[in-house]
Amino acid sequence: MEDLAPRPGDLEPIETASRDEIAALQLERLQWSLRHAYENSPFYRRRFDDQGVHPDDLTNLADLAKFPFTQKTDLRDTYPFGMFAVPREKIARIHASSGTTGKPTVVGYTARDIDTWASLVARSIRASGGRAGDIIHVAYGYGLFTGGLGAHYGAEKLGCTVIPISGGMTERQVTLITDFRPRIIMVTPSYMLSILDEFHRQGIDPRESSLAVGIFGAEPWTNAMRAEIEEAFDMHAVDIYGLSEVMGPGVANECVETKDGLHIWEDHFYPEVIDPETGAPVADGQMGELVFTTLTKEGLPIIRYRTRDLTRLLPGTARSMRRMEKITGRSDDMIILRGVNVFPTQIEEQILKCAGLAPHFQIELTREGRMDAMCVHTEATAAAASDDARKASAKELAHHIKSVIGISARVNVHEPGGAPRSEGKARRVVDTRPKAE
Ligand code: DLL
Repeated sequence: MEDLAPRPGDLEPIETASRDEIAALQLERLQWSLRHAYENSPFYRRRFDDQGVHPDDLTNLADLAKFPFTQKTDLRDTYPFGMFAVPREKIARIHASSGTTGKPTVVGYTARDIDTWASLVARSIRASGGRAGDIIHVAYGYGLFTGGLGAHYGAEKLGCTVIPISGGMTERQVTLITDFRPRIIMVTPSYMLSILDEFHRQGIDPRESSLAVGIFGAEPWTNAMRAEIEEAFDMHAVDIYGLSEVMGPGVANECVETKDGLHIWEDHFYPEVIDPETGAPVADGQMGELVFTTLTKEGLPIIRYRTRDLTRLLPGTARSMRRMEKITGRSDDMIILRGVNVFPTQIEEQILKCAGLAPHFQIELTREGRMDAMCVHTEATAAAASDDARKASAKELAHHIKSVIGISARVNVHEPGGAPRSEGKARRVVDTRPKAE
């Protein structure tokens, strides 16, 4: 794989600034952001007043802990535009979550917000090893989801040639990758695996493709998955993180030269990690729930947004800005099975240990009598597709899950192609247990 470390002069000054410089900028911007929210959004004014805090109460960064959290339910309760802090005419773009349960969460951006977002995605692509002139294949979904348009504007801002293919039509994805020869692909890791299958189906060696870098995010994925994709395509696989409430893709990104967690673009987002039970901030290095405050956003400033994502904050390495560890999962995705906490990423790691299994999977939760049961649906590789080989792989995976995670799970190894595929974010858990009354 190519050595893609940045050359002198490639980086923006803030990426290598001292911690003191970063903290000074954050304080100044945080004071602006709190004041902007308080003065222009009746929602925040009420919240701050109820808690007895005022923007003037923030004189250092730690004072942020005095301010109230914002949650997804707040966006739902103020649906659609109730949290915006500028007149509606100043909103240049709306995005929204899919809203599989209840109303979607709607977010809005001013023209300046869109420009900031594009700059941060451009920075993220550069951190991943992209540069002006690259051809970028964007297979994140376009539309209300922030993935496609977020990646698109960033790639254009960096000076790349963008192929806005969006998700789906997998056969055509492979044709266009082969014909247009992009150097970079931006897509969910689970959909990248579907694209990989399609390369094989068409008899094209993925290692011979033009792709040198993949920028993968929008869902949790493990380092084991990274190794799998890098080996299959002979490419760098880099992690990009974001969420629509805070901005979209490009809140944090790994650096290709280190791949040791995601640098948070701290000049625009102030991160905290809190104990999800008590809400108290924990020290850097400790695991907890990630919370973000936007520092420059105009349309929808977000103060102490509880992401539900679990990670820890780590010191900067390739950049001065702090890193967050690759996300293990969301508190909402945590499965509690007979008292043991399990994340889908832990199952992914065990599947990738088994040579006879392809990396596609879905977890089904059922109730049998009074007991909860887990069945892992996965599939055999073409080389291990016989009945005997599938039985052996199922046994091997069940054994790993038992010995490493500590739970008994049934394993169903389907034929190659038999496990569900994704064209965007993978649905890892299907829960058919009766809901508690
Ligand atoms: O998924 C934004 C995005 C698009 C990020 C493309 C990266 C690439 P939402 O649909 O609002 O926004 O979902 C946000 O997805 O809270 C995480 O739970 C999860 N997520 C996003 N990126 C990662 C990642 C986009 N790199 C939610 N690793 C977040 C793990 C991720 N989880």
